[in-house]
Amino acid sequence: MSLIDEISKIKSIFKSDLDLLKENKLNQDEVKYKYLGRKGLVSKLYSKLSSIDNKEKPKAGKIINELKLDISNKLNTLFSENNVSQNHATKLDHSLPGLRLNNGSIHPLTLIINEIKDIFSKIGFSNVYGSEIDTDYYNFEALNIPKHHPARDMQDTFYIEKDILLRTHTSSSQVHFMENNNPPIRVLSPGRVYRNEDISVRSYCLFHQIEGLYVDKNVTFSDLKGTLEYFAKEFFGPKIKIRFRPSYFPFTEPSAEMDVYWGLNSESDYRITKGTGWLEILGCGMVNPKVFKSVNYDVKKWNGYAFGLGIERIAMLKYGIDDIRLLYEGDINFLGQFK
Ligand code: DAH
Repeated sequence: MSLIDEISKIKSIFKSDLDLLKENKLNQDEVKYKYLGRKGLVSKLYSKLSSIDNKEKPKAGKIINELKLDISNKLNTLFSENNVSQNHATKLDHSLPGLRLNNGSIHPLTLIINEIKDIFSKIGFSNVYGSEIDTDYYNFEALNIPKHHPARDMQDTFYIEKDILLRTHTSSSQVHFMENNNPPIRVLSPGRVYRNEDISVRSYCLFHQIEGLYVDKNVTFSDLKGTLEYFAKEFFGPKIKIRFRPSYFPFTEPSAEMDVYWGLNSESDYRITKGTGWLEILGCGMVNPKVFKSVNYDVKKWNGYAFGLGIERIAMLKYGIDDIRLLYEGDINFLGQFK
């Protein structure tokens, strides 16, 4: 075989070896040795130079040099590409902690409110929202709490102007809703309420309630009890013990409060239930006809029940939170626990 034939043969084998190398089907060092090693194919070409005509030698030598350079360039380029990707792989330390993404989390009070909304939506309650700034009329008067009524003492009020205030309960949204809608009614109204109370571990100047209102024909107190019992079992589990105690609210008659038996397993249980294990979670009753009159409902035709749930205490017991103020401080470390 002439030298020229041999060179073109080596070129073509190298081309296919290079393809195999790219697919990782050959070993880098072996290929390098096969062509450029001391006993490699290119070295063998040099040894053949001695047998050719002197006049041809410089030209042939130049061609072999070019071939050698070409092969080594191509191999170097390929190897360095491979090394870059290998280095990336070996330099990754899988034991290092990942980058922390500061995802937000849902506030524990919102978690509770959402759960309660879900439970009541299954029995046909929809959600409405009242406004936090309201008038004396909607917050008190229309709910049968006239000026100078002693029941106003139960709720220390923040007044903005003479007759404008921060609502002290979500019951005000009952009046708004009934003014704008006709029975039958089945609504929940969650939201913030405000009271001018001394701030402490147990009380704060704002908190959250969910109001419930049901108006239809022939509604009875046992409908109310049945609904609240359904709620308690869904929320606290089927074994929860509940009790109703007679109470007084100007906008319901008769009125009651509902307690759930939480138990006394931790210090926060003792503190929040005042050592009894029972937690009062809501006030309720049959809507007082005086309230229906203030929204021009026919009291001979319609009756109904209402209830108002306090959210904070439920959240504190459920999550073992022993200071109510934690719920309003927006501390990411605290809030991040409720994912
Ligand atoms: N508004 C009352 C409060 O804030 C709670 C309440 C009691 C709401 C009885 C009601 C109800 O709808 O029927 O203490």
